[in-house]
Amino acid sequence: MSFLNQALSVALDRRQALLAELHAQGTDCYRLFHGSQEGAAGLTIDRYGPQLLIQSFHESLASDVVPGLIDTVQRHLGLELLPVYNDRSGGNSRIDRQDSVFQASEAALQDGVGHEGGLKYRVRARHAGQDPLLFLDLRNARSWVRQHSAGKSVLNLFAYTCGVGLSAAAGGAREVCNLDFAEGNLAVGRENGTLNPQLPPMQFIQSDYFPAIRQLAGLPVTARRGQKLPAYPRLLPRQYDLVLLDPPAWAKSAFGTVDLWRDYQSLLKPALLATAEDGVLICCNNLAKVPIDEWQEQVLRCAEKAGRPVREWQVIRPADDFPSLDNQPPLKTLVLQF
Ligand SMILES: C[S@@+](CC[C@H](N)C(=O)[O-])C[C@H]1O[C@@H](n2cnc3c(N)ncnc32)[C@H](O)[C@@H]1O
Repeated sequence: MSFLNQALSVALDRRQALLAELHAQGTDCYRLFHGSQEGAAGLTIDRYGPQLLIQSFHESLASDVVPGLIDTVQRHLGLELLPVYNDRSGGNSRIDRQDSVFQASEAALQDGVGHEGGLKYRVRARHAGQDPLLFLDLRNARSWVRQHSAGKSVLNLFAYTCGVGLSAAAGGAREVCNLDFAEGNLAVGRENGTLNPQLPPMQFIQSDYFPAIRQLAGLPVTARRGQKLPAYPRLLPRQYDLVLLDPPAWAKSAFGTVDLWRDYQSLLKPALLATAEDGVLICCNNLAKVPIDEWQEQVLRCAEKAGRPVREWQVIRPADDFPSLDNQPPLKTLVLQF
């Protein structure tokens, strides 16, 4: 047995109890191998419902390795899945669409449905974007939102495919608003809504974060230095009971720069002001090099300065399919109660 297969077997054995628990909850989307912490940095293996997604980030897998990995997973799970190997090690981390190493079947490349907590999510092993349509390390945060959104108005910022919004709707939120500037991502969010017709409809705002959140917070909208202000959807100032702020590590737009390393505050401050007086703000930071203690201190200080001191806070950690040897998982999530 190859070293990789051995490491994978250990990882699968380690997950037995977790997978049984997840299956019992109606969840079939999870990480099976988290390479950076389980012996093969730059390799991840995830199940997305019927699909098995293998991704390499640092170097391509040799062609004879992939079938062995698929076989090991299928034997452990006692399931036949539809495998897709995406090599993201090339320039710019884009998926190698030539797919020279491993040919995925047509069925594996079709749209599928994955489940989390009984909810249905669109899964698509290859698409125009880089990342899978559901971020698995955010599962515990989605579950928290589902348990705490009954009767609340919920604002899902940087909504991507609206997984958090869907969880809030399933938790009985009175109103769910998903905000993202990428229409393609919101379109998948709409599909996720359609896949769960038992839930009340969600709202979608396609807008850059900065003008939208600044309007909601009652702050003036500003352009980047020396630039003309591009058009943006108009919103009235208002606050939400539960706000989720899960920005990408870095993104530049005409209105400003999302930069979790240098400037979390300019994202956080308006989000604080758009959260109700006795509301909850859940904020995330997925940058591995930011230690949780430092970031937490920064967040609490920023809230204090913004006149929104935090009454209680709690950390949500990714589940055990994202093991962390040093107890410092890249995705950090803080629940702030006011
Ligand atoms: C890391 S994903 C967020 C994950 C999401 N919270 C979830 O639950 O899956 C980042 C998202 O931010 C969006 N985005 C990046 N910069 C933005 C900006 N300036 N304004 C609005 N959305 C932005 C991207 O389109 C993408 O959907």
